[in-house]
Amino acid sequence: MQLHVSGLSYVYPGGEKALDNINLQVAVGENVGLVGPNGAGKTTFFLCVGGVLSIPQAVVQVAGLDPARRDQRRLLPIKIGIVFQDSDDQLFSTTVADDVAFGPLNLGLPLPEVRRRVADALTQVGLSGFDSRVPFHLSGGEKRRVALAGILAMQPEILLLDEPSSHLDPRGRRELIGLVNSLSVTKIIASHDLEFILETCRRVVILDAGRVVADGSARVLLSNPALMNDHGLEVPHSLTPHVSPHHRKGIE
Ligand SMILES: Nc1ncnc2c1ncn2[C@@H]1O[C@H](COP(=O)(O)OP(=O)(O)OP(=O)(O)O)[C@@H](O)[C@H]1O
Ligand SMILES: [Mg+2]
Repeated sequence: MQLHVSGLSYVYPGGEKALDNINLQVAVGENVGLVGPNGAGKTTFFLCVGGVLSIPQAVVQVAGLDPARRDQRRLLPIKIGIVFQDSDDQLFSTTVADDVAFGPLNLGLPLPEVRRRVADALTQVGLSGFDSRVPFHLSGGEKRRVALAGILAMQPEILLLDEPSSHLDPRGRRELIGLVNSLSVTKIIASHDLEFILETCRRVVILDAGRVVADGSARVLLSNPALMNDHGLEVPHSLTPHVSPHHRKGIE
């Protein structure tokens, strides 16, 4: 197992219990959709697994590393990359190229290698030619792509994508689906865009009030109206039973 989570709970300093005894195993190369209503704990889960929030030792294993151990947390960015829900949390340099280069430079890679990774990552997200633009002067969708490029340039083994399709126009969203499906790394994708999840993930985990309430086939779980309704979700359009032409005639 590449990601191993056993009994992960998290309480914010204010007392809000955001995660309640999460157990999850993700194998190498798996794509897992993480869905659930606002406040379910999706982002908190990413922040715990990615070493941003502090958790107890021996609860999470990320590609053999324990994010709770200081010495191992240093190595985490090589193994796991988070694309944050809000790109403004991720972008801080004065040019797009500097932003994407930040991670690879921190890894101590030689400059030609850094330049190659930056160019490749910007091409992958459809932003070649944006090198000298100012991240803060980009549109929401463009910022999202820069943030993703910065993580891709690190070539992590596990990608955590938090609402990756938000702010993207339909073409950008379609291109992102193609890009996500072309990357063979392990991915966990948190999203309210269930059609996006269906196109990228065979497995889905449903989170509600900090607990895993279902874990299984995306098609099976997302097409279950009672399950969706109980957890503030809706069966995506592509999985709703089609109204037969005969029936449609009757209601016209
Ligand atoms: N910094 C924080 N301090 C205190 N409580 C927080 C903080 N961030 C999140 N929470 C609380 O933790 C719970 C889980 O929030 P989280 O952001 O993980 O949910 P989410 O599933 O990502 O929601 P969304 O779909 O809105 O992105 C919520 O009840 C939220 O109010
Ligand atoms: Mg969130």
